[in-house]
Amino acid sequence: MKRVRLGIVGIGNIAQLNVLGYLEHPQCDVLALCDTRKEEAEHKAAVWGVPKVYTALDDMLADPDIDAVEILTPTDLHKEHVLAVIAAGKHVSCQKPIANSVKDALEMVAAANAAGVTLRVSECYFHYPPLLKARQLIRDGAIGSPTMVRIKTVVGDSDSEFSRNLQPEGYAWRFDNRSPGGHLFDDMIHKFATAPWIVDTEIQSVQAIVRQGPLFFEAPTAAIFEYAREDLLGTMEVAYAPRMQMRSSYYGADEFFEVQGTDGLIWVTRCTGEMLDLAPVMLFRGDGVTESFTNVNADWGAGFIGSSRHFIDCLISGETPDMTGDQAVKALQLCFATYEASNTRSPVRVDSIETSVSPAGWPKTGDQLLRDAQDLGLV
Ligand SMILES: NC(=O)c1ccc[n+]([C@@H]2O[C@H](COP(=O)([O-])OP(=O)(O)OC[C@H]3O[C@@H](n4cnc5c(N)ncnc54)[C@H](O)[C@@H]3O)[C@@H](O)[C@H]2O)c1
Repeated sequence: MKRVRLGIVGIGNIAQLNVLGYLEHPQCDVLALCDTRKEEAEHKAAVWGVPKVYTALDDMLADPDIDAVEILTPTDLHKEHVLAVIAAGKHVSCQKPIANSVKDALEMVAAANAAGVTLRVSECYFHYPPLLKARQLIRDGAIGSPTMVRIKTVVGDSDSEFSRNLQPEGYAWRFDNRSPGGHLFDDMIHKFATAPWIVDTEIQSVQAIVRQGPLFFEAPTAAIFEYAREDLLGTMEVAYAPRMQMRSSYYGADEFFEVQGTDGLIWVTRCTGEMLDLAPVMLFRGDGVTESFTNVNADWGAGFIGSSRHFIDCLISGETPDMTGDQAVKALQLCFATYEASNTRSPVRVDSIETSVSPAGWPKTGDQLLRDAQDLGLV
């Protein structure tokens, strides 16, 4: 394949970040947009210079000019949409989380393998330059053998232009029984994927306490990961700070990733936001010298551009894209294992998860959500 003619289904909130990497790729032609909201799709097509607009995925899939499809629809529709693209014999990239259950995700992976088409799951964290830099340093032995991985997420408030322009209807399907869980499923899935990826080591078991916070937030949460190596552990924490203004060009959140090794320490000091005035990657070397990597692109949006570019590059080169369906299934299992560990207050093996698990009290009733919104002064 020398060029990729792409169709995109779903032009909601996240499309503005995902589409850029495709529009600017010299070997990609974005040929069509598809969304049930016709006027919105036509508007976006005019802005992005996309020639065709569809309102039904089947119609877009019948278009012989389309080689591959990017799926940016709500997560509960991923299975139906991915299977339709595969059945049409086209390559497919799907936003995280891959699906609402492990069973569905495995079905999608098997269908792609049987059809001989590429299924990759778009994981912007795998293409966020500071995380890529940290992973490369770890692979190069800069901290010796990793012994601890620590991932902290804090969600606060943001008055960024991006946040102000988010369409509220993009949240409805995240808050009810169309989703198996809340924030851990929707956002922490990035970090469930990153925790094994950054040290190239699988996680076998998890212990966790997940508290129900306001709205769909599951905070505070604390989890402990047992990796496949005895001498490597991980911790993950999630905090919700609704009255904390986050410095961010995107969502009101930020993350820090710390990997301790036998010979040194690596710190990725930002991700979604830019809370700390520090170099995005810092290496505390075994010889006592601190290296600050200031020339790494720390814009969170760069991860989306890199992820879209990577899909096209892989279709052209024939390489296997990061992340594969199998990696996406494991991230999903780790997420559900975290819910299960909290629900049962006991360690849960990640590979024991075959379907899906919801946290206690999920989903909230409409009245509960309204009370949460009132308490937060949102209504
Ligand atoms: N950091 C990230 O990588 C990131 C961030 C946000 C969202 N996401 C993921 O991206 C996906 C979309 O999220 P969003 O926030 O943009 O949601 P959204 O609700 O804002 O957008 C979804 C779009 O899909 C359209 N749609 C719904 N059903 C359709 C159908 N049957 N056919 C065609 N179009 C249909 C809607 O009209 C809407 O425009 C989700 O899977 C979400 O988890 C990823």
